[in-house]
Amino acid sequence: MAIVWSSELEIGIPVIDAQHQRIVEYINTLAQVQKTKSQKELLSLLDELVDYTLSHFAFEESLMEEAGYPFTNAHKKVHQLFAKRVVSFQQRAKVGENITEELMHVLKAWLVNHIKRDDHDYSDVVKANMAEATKRAKARKGSWIARLFHA
Ligand SMILES: [Fe+2]
Repeated sequence: MAIVWSSELEIGIPVIDAQHQRIVEYINTLAQVQKTKSQKELLSLLDELVDYTLSHFAFEESLMEEAGYPFTNAHKKVHQLFAKRVVSFQQRAKVGENITEELMHVLKAWLVNHIKRDDHDYSDVVKANMAEATKRAKARKGSWIARLFHA
């Protein structure tokens, strides 16, 4: 069954919401095509999904760090453990085991739970920090020195 995107999955940071939506699309696509594709094709789709997810994790972690979110390290640990779990699935797939169905199940459950709980938890701190950074950037733009150099 596909993951249905809903406002419940939004954390209110558009750039993150867009990335989460993309991951959901990847998972749904993979779930849809798993019966029609060869093991080799599935493996390369899986690689894409994992690559995208790992760079999304890195992006989230940098936002949390930048914002001084107090549970950044714990959140990073959760990402690392999940990455390890996915890699072990990939290894099983590479030796010929058909793990797609099982993996899809894990991905769906983990992602939905992680977004709703862990990602939701950092959203206020990160949002406040992003708003502050935007304000600072605007103030800099309006300063006499900025006008001098960007006139
Ligand atoms: Fe996360």
